Amino acid sequence: MAKIPPGVGPKYPQIVVLVGATGDLSKRKLLPGLFHLATAGFIPGCRIIGLSLDNIDADGFRAIAREALDEFSSRPVHEADWAAFAEALDYVPMAAGPKVLRAAVEKAERAFSGETRRVHYLSVPPVAALAVVRLLADAGIVERSRIIMEKPFGTDLASAVSLNAQLHEVFSEDQIFRIDHFLGKEPAQNILAFRFANGLFEPIWNRNFIDHVQIDVPETLGLGQRAGFYEAIGAYRDMVVTHLFQILAFMAMESPTSLEPKPISEEKNKVFRSMTPIDPKNVVRGQYIGYRSEEGVDPESETETFIALKCAIDNWRWAGVPFFLRTGKRMAEGQRIISIAFREPPKSMFPAGSGVGAQGPDHLTFDLADASKMSLSFYGKRPGPGMRLDKLSLQFAMRDTGLIGDVLEAYERLILDAMRGDHTLFTTAEGIERLWEVSIPVLEAPPPVRLYAPGSWGPKSVHQLVAPHAWRLPFERAWRDPNGTGE
Ligand code: BG6
Repeated sequence: MAKIPPGVGPKYPQIVVLVGATGDLSKRKLLPGLFHLATAGFIPGCRIIGLSLDNIDADGFRAIAREALDEFSSRPVHEADWAAFAEALDYVPMAAGPKVLRAAVEKAERAFSGETRRVHYLSVPPVAALAVVRLLADAGIVERSRIIMEKPFGTDLASAVSLNAQLHEVFSEDQIFRIDHFLGKEPAQNILAFRFANGLFEPIWNRNFIDHVQIDVPETLGLGQRAGFYEAIGAYRDMVVTHLFQILAFMAMESPTSLEPKPISEEKNKVFRSMTPIDPKNVVRGQYIGYRSEEGVDPESETETFIALKCAIDNWRWAGVPFFLRTGKRMAEGQRIISIAFREPPKSMFPAGSGVGAQGPDHLTFDLADASKMSLSFYGKRPGPGMRLDKLSLQFAMRDTGLIGDVLEAYERLILDAMRGDHTLFTTAEGIERLWEVSIPVLEAPPPVRLYAPGSWGPKSVHQLVAPHAWRLPFERAWRDPNGTGE
């Protein structure tokens, strides 16, 4: 279990109002995450009030929470820890209204003798968010609170601007935490450490040395119970405007003046301002065969379950360097990688047939799994006579450091940061509105969806998009796994 350095937790006990408490995200991530934060001692005191459309009572909610922990917690659930956690849970059905909600919050606060703070976690679809914000306002529980909002933040520029404006009528910007869980992933933060804590790579981190960049997040997952949400959203809004562009910003931004929230947001937002509008000609939309017959999906649905695109950051550092992004459901493999291809040497003195360049350019690759990995692949000499070249690699795996037990899952890290009032890994209204702005051409004139077979790498045209380059995935050589533990 993680060792907890002093001062990492919030100062005051936290009253969490978990809206959408019986939903998919809550069961998979939020309840297990809160359980871990509470039992590992990160939160000095915490009471959780579940809120959802389900007409259940506190015991009903406890049963749902227990089932969720058994199914989704990545760590063992000890009975004594569960008993303490269960005792801290309460529930209010949405229909009970603001007065009952306020009473439940006040009751939770009375469990602590000193000051407390409130965290409202909105794990609800975008259409429901504002109604919940009004409920919190009517209940009079905005004071001393922070609000964590789930993406997508709007579905286009107009709705994002209006959502932010209405949100600001109730909450001030410093109370708002727009969560993008990819930024909470340990390896995403490691991109900043890797770039700015070392002298080795930053000098070559630009158009003079980098040929192109790929951010590739194929998923084997289908939609589970989420068809209703997904059908109205699609892969571009679900994954690109949020996670992939945010990761791109960490990869591409200038060094911030300090590691404080404002300077980091400033540099990320500059990347977004330099992005050129996404041209529909550089976008491939796909839909897996069988999607239209899933429950809750329109039989003539044009929603994309796959998207790949080329985008550009037209600034001093990146002009002319293509960034290729890809993500989709029901694909061949589940991976989350950033792969940086370096320029090839200007001239080769190696004999014909030596193999130089035959396996693509040299690459630096980050794997964004919780157990992060990194690899630098390069050409080296194959032992023996003559000069035959092979692609070799230097690899780092967090698993080999013995520190893997200290990793906080993305949601855990971000919930803890929000409780501490730390905005560093959260997105801003300005950044999000700019991303919707660059999205206008593709949202207004989306290219037609092309079908792809489940278990594939997407529609065929995805190869033309990157030509003359090639997608890095599937890897020609698997990650080395000396312990054979897999991941
Ligand atoms: C979510 C998307 O935000 O991220 C899902 O809504 C997606 O569609 C998920 O599956 C991927 O997250 P992770 O952490 O499993 O890579």
